[in-house]
Parts: sequence; structure tokens; C-alpha cells
Amino acid sequence: MGEEFCAGKLDILLEILGHPAAFYNKMIEQCGGALYNFSKEEIDGLTKILPFSAPQKIKGGMYYDTPNDINTFGFQAVMIASSKVHPKSILHMMNSAFGNLDKLHKIHPALSTTNRGSMKQDLVTPRRNVMNNNSADGDIKRYPIETVRTQIENCLTAWGMTEANAKLTSEVMVDADTCGIDTHGISMLTVYHGRHRNNYITLAAEPITVNETPVSALIDAGGGLGYVASIKATETAIAKAQQAGMAAVAVRNSAHFGATGYYTRMMARKGLVGIATTSAVGRSVAPTFGKEPKFGTDPIAFAAPTKRNKIYSLDMATTTVARGKIRNKYNEGQPVPVGWVNDKDGNPTTDPALLIDDQGGTQTPLGGTRESGSHKGYGLGMMVNILSCAFSGARIMTGELANKQPVPGTMDVGHFFLAIDPKIFAPDRPFEEAVDEMIDDLHATIPVDPNQPVLVAGEPEDIIRAEREKSGIPIPPGLRGKIEEVCRDSNAEFLLT
Ligand SMILES: NC(=O)c1ccc[n+]([C@@H]2O[C@H](COP(=O)([O-])OP(=O)(O)OC[C@H]3O[C@@H](n4cnc5c(N)ncnc54)[C@H](O)[C@@H]3O)[C@@H](O)[C@H]2O)c1
Repeated sequence: MGEEFCAGKLDILLEILGHPAAFYNKMIEQCGGALYNFSKEEIDGLTKILPFSAPQKIKGGMYYDTPNDINTFGFQAVMIASSKVHPKSILHMMNSAFGNLDKLHKIHPALSTTNRGSMKQDLVTPRRNVMNNNSADGDIKRYPIETVRTQIENCLTAWGMTEANAKLTSEVMVDADTCGIDTHGISMLTVYHGRHRNNYITLAAEPITVNETPVSALIDAGGGLGYVASIKATETAIAKAQQAGMAAVAVRNSAHFGATGYYTRMMARKGLVGIATTSAVGRSVAPTFGKEPKFGTDPIAFAAPTKRNKIYSLDMATTTVARGKIRNKYNEGQPVPVGWVNDKDGNPTTDPALLIDDQGGTQTPLGGTRESGSHKGYGLGMMVNILSCAFSGARIMTGELANKQPVPGTMDVGHFFLAIDPKIFAPDRPFEEAVDEMIDDLHATIPVDPNQPVLVAGEPEDIIRAEREKSGIPIPPGLRGKIEEVCRDSNAEFLLT
């Protein structure tokens, strides 16, 4: 991390904010975000000019964030009003966002020096020169889907996975990248690399069915990554539901299986309603009123088939955000918005390192605070754990040993998959037409902003998928560097040059 973001630099930022649009664009383009302790008057002035979202009340002040549409690549600008709000954390995040002097220089050359005099001098540098200061290494680059898929396969096979299983796994992972779930695609290689090195997972594992009935099965994943076992479980649930009308499959002795919605969409493509859940690999979420973690991010996915519209596909962590979104901010040296992470005392923080570097930080259950409904996210997390672990016999996350590694070669994660054939219920009205009607009604809702029509779940991902199938998968520089290190360490060919 570079030098301290001293008070002088804060002054300089304010001077640049005399041209807020230029500053804002540069911040988004080059730095990925900023955090600044603005006065109430400055905030009032700036929010009239800049496209920040409606302010949210937080402990000790107000919090402003950019709208979702410019957050697609994890870019973000954050402002906090009131000097009472976590001043240490604000300075820390200024350092995280701008600590790299190259990044500072790209906003304005004056910010890359501590000499106050020369900063003032530099402020007269023509803005155009600053805007043209564009280093290739600092850019997000786009890669064809096939290149990203092959890069994933290269690493998985280098770690000992069979080619057939690496193909299945990379298909699920690259699908996440293609539809914009950047937290669960190629970025996971950096995490899996550590787990492989520590013998937390068995890359060569082959899942086996240990017991089954006409409407159920239990699969043992052999300690492998969860993708192959989950595809087997989903295919089993589909085949049994097609015969019996509905079927559920539980999986134990597994590990991370990526984006949950991949499996429910497999079911919906076969005309079945799909539900899937998984326990997480570690604990990061404190229950409402608690300050120690007891749950993971525990996602749930639901998909329903349609005729006129795309498959309805709800796929969500039961936390305010998926942990991967916090990890991606950390990787790129950016702050997280208030409400994603609490510090060790249960207070909101913008520092992702408090969670990712195990400094006692916790993630919030969906809802963020009790006032805004975190008890409901906490309840959903409990439901996911009951479905994923109590049925399968997988490791229970709430207990003493949940954060430790009880058995080498496995993380003993549990999954649950349920497939329902809608035809077993009301044959007089086709199920798909009912779902289509609901989706059409929702699309017809009068929007708040005419430029942002009402969507249904799955559509944000469909929109990104259509765009990335044409223009490729964007990979930011921090992640590229980490994958290059992984390849070097694993003796796998690095393709993201
Ligand atoms: N394997 C694991 O252990 C694990 C753990 C946590 C999360 N995850 C995965 O992380 C991914 C991201 O989770 P997340 O909670 O950050 O997702 P998210 O918040 O980005 O989206 C959640 C859902 O909301 C929908 N949505 C988004 N904007 C919408 C709008 N304007 N109108 C209607 N619907 C909208 C999306 O289509 C999606 O179905 C998921 O694929 C999840 O399965 C996996």
C-alpha cells in the first residue's frame, strides 16, 4: 500500500471537485471508487450534480452510493457525510482506493506526491493530459468465453482433476462469468488454488450415489469441488421427477459448487421447477444481535419454466451480498459500501480486509441491520442450512469446529436439489402460462424512472450474457495478476495475456 492519504490530499480532492463530473468519471474509469468524508453542504451540492443514489441513514451519518448500473464491474463511488463516521475507516479506505500511487496519478498527477507545493503546481496541468494517462496494465481487458473456459480447465487439470470433470466444472464457472456473476467464475481459481494447496479439497474425486428411492437420492461427492457432484445430483433429480412428478437429491462431503442458479436453470430447461441450496465452506455471517459468525453466505436458487419469457431465475445469497463481491473489492483495493460488512464489534465498516483478512469482521444477513430486516435473512440462512446439511449429513456449520478443517481432503459442504414437475398439479391451466402472465404483469408496472423498466429475477444476468457473448468477459488487472501467479505456481499455461 502506498503512502498515507494525508489531509493535504483530501484538500486536493476537494479542489478537483470544482470539476465534479470530470473527477467522477476519472474515479470510475481509473480507480474504481473513492470514499470521502464530505460535509453536509458539500453533499447537498454534489448530489445535485452527480448520479449518486438516494442517501441512506447509517450510524452517525448518511451514506451515498452509485446506482447499480455503473457497479457492473465493481466500480463504485462512496461518500459519507459527517465527520463522526468512522474517521479511521474512512482514511483506511482512502488508502485502499488510492493507496497505489499510480492510481492516484491517474486521477490527477498532483495526488501522487506528498509535496503540497508541487501538488498545487500540478493542478494547473491540462485536464486532457490526465484523462489520456491510460496504462494498459491498469485496464480491464476482455477475453473470449472460450479463452476463459480453457484458462479454468488448465488450472483444474494441473491440480489433478480429470479432463472430463474439468470440462463440466469450467462450463459452470464460465457460465457465471458470462452472465455477470463475476464472483463465481474464473475469480474462484485464486480461492480453489489455496484450498488445493492446503488439501482441503480432493480434485480427483468422483461422486457416488450412496442411497436412493424413486423420489430421492443421497450423493457423496468424495471431497471434490461441488460442481461435478451437483450436476450429477441435478440430473438425478430431473430424471426422477420426470418419472415420479417430483424428486429431491441431497449431497454431502462436497465443496463449493459455484453459482446456485446454474443447477435450477438446468431443471427449468426441462420444464421443471427447481430449487437448490448449499451450505457454505466457512462462517462469515453473524446472526441478528450477534457479533460472532455462525453461518456462511448460504445461497438459495429458484427457477421456473416459461413459454414467452426467459426462464424465471432467482439466485441469491441469504446475506446482503455474496462474499465473492467483498473479495473482488478487496482484490481491486476498493472499499465496500456500508451495510455489507461489520467490524469485530458489530459496527458497519467499509473495509473489506476486516472480513477477508480474518480481522474479526462479519458479513450481514440479508437486510443488513435488524431495523431493515436482517432477522429475515438470518432465518433464510437457517433454512438453507437445514435443507443442505440436516438431510445430507454434511458438516453442521454452527458448531465449534465449523471454521476448522476436520478431515483432510474435504470441506464436507452439503447441497440440496429439488425438482417438481408442474404437470402433477393443475392440468387444466398450463403452469408456464401462469408464470408468463405474472412476468408480463410485472413488466407492465409503472416504473419510477422511465429509463429503468421493472425487471424480474434472471433478467439482469440475461442482459449481461447477451452483451458478453458478443464482446467477451471483462477481467480486471488485480484478478489477472492473481491468476498469473496461480498459473505459475501450478505449472499451468497462462492465457490472459
Ligand atoms: N456456492 C456458494 O457457496 C455461494 C454462496 C453465496 C452466493 N453464491 C452465488 O453468488 C451469486 C450472487 O449472489 P447475490 O446474492 O450477490 O446475487 P444478486 O444480488 O446479484 O442477485 C440476486 C437475484 O436478484 C435478481 N435481481 C437483480 N436485480 C434485479 C432487479 N432489478 N429486479 C429483479 N430481480 C433482480 C438477480 O437476477 C438474482 O436472481 C449467486 O449466483 C449465488 O448462488 C454462491
